[in-house]
Amino acid sequence: MTPFAHRHLLGIADLSANEIVQILDLSDTFLEISERAIKKVPTLRGKTVINLFLEASTRTRTSFEIAAKRLSADAVNISGSTSSTTKGETLLDTARNLQAMRPDVIVLRHTASGAPHFIAAHVDAAVINAGDGTHEHPTQALLDCATIRKHKGRVDGLTIAICGDIAHSRVARSDVLALGKLGAKVRLAAPRTMLPIGIETLGAEVYDRMEPAIEGADVVMMLRIQKERLDGAGLFPNTREYSRYFGLGLRMATHLKPDAILMHPGPINRGIELDPALADGTRSVILDQVTHGVGVRMALLYLLAGGSAEN
Ligand code: CP
Repeated sequence: MTPFAHRHLLGIADLSANEIVQILDLSDTFLEISERAIKKVPTLRGKTVINLFLEASTRTRTSFEIAAKRLSADAVNISGSTSSTTKGETLLDTARNLQAMRPDVIVLRHTASGAPHFIAAHVDAAVINAGDGTHEHPTQALLDCATIRKHKGRVDGLTIAICGDIAHSRVARSDVLALGKLGAKVRLAAPRTMLPIGIETLGAEVYDRMEPAIEGADVVMMLRIQKERLDGAGLFPNTREYSRYFGLGLRMATHLKPDAILMHPGPINRGIELDPALADGTRSVILDQVTHGVGVRMALLYLLAGGSAEN
C-alpha cells in the first residue's frame, strides 16, 4: 500500500484526490469488519487513541471510539464537561499533559477554528481534526464521499447540492473541498445572510434559492441550523419562514430528481431543515453515512497510528 504522507489529518485542504481515494478504499475494506460476528482485529494492538471532545458530539466521538476498539487500540474519551478545562486549564496545557501519557493519536473536537492545528504543533501524537469551530470537519467529508460513492458508484461528474446554514458549517466547507477534488459539481444554497463572502472561491456554484439548487442534483445534503453559533445574529426572520424557503419539506421535494439521494450530517432538526418523512424515507442514506463514519475513522487511525496490516 502507498505510504500515507501526512502525520496529522487537520483538513481536507491538505489531501490530494489520490489520498482521498486511498482513505475511501481502505474504509470499504475495514467496514467489512463491522459485519463480522467478532468485530475486532489486532491491527492497532498496543496503540492508544485519546478522543478529546471539548464540544458536544454523538456520531463522531462514538464512531472514533468504536473504530479504535475494532482495531484493538486502547481508546480513552475525554469530554469538555469532565476535563480540567472547566477549571481553567488551557488547551495547550491539556495537550501537553495528554502527550506526557504517550498516546499515538489525539482526536480533537473544539469550538475554536484552528485548535487541532495548534495542538499538532505541540505534541508528538498524530492529531485528527474531529471538527474545529466553523473551519473544517474532514472526517465527515470523507464519510460523505464514501457514502455517495457506495450509492452512486462514483463521485466524479455528479451534481451535489448542499443546502442550509453554509456560513456556520464546517461540514459544508470540508465537503466542498473533498467533493470538488473528486470531480463533483457542488452547489451551495442558503439565504444570502448564510452565504459567507467569497464562498465561490472554493469552487462551488452559489444559489440563494433552494429550488434551482436541488433541481437535477444527484445528491441533496441538508444542513442543520447551528443555533449554538448564531449568537442572536438574526440571519433569518423566523424558523417557520426559514423552513418554508430553505427546508426540504414534501412540497420542496417535488423538485428532486427521481433518483436523488438525501444526506444530512446530523444531528437533524426534524421539521425545520428536513421533513421527518424524507429523513426516514427511501431516498435517505443518512444512517448509512453514520455506518461509513466507522470505516473512514478506522482507515484514518490505521494510516496515522501505523498499525500492522494483519487482519
Ligand atoms: N456529524 C457530526 O459531526 O455529528 P456529531 O456532532 O454528533 O458528532
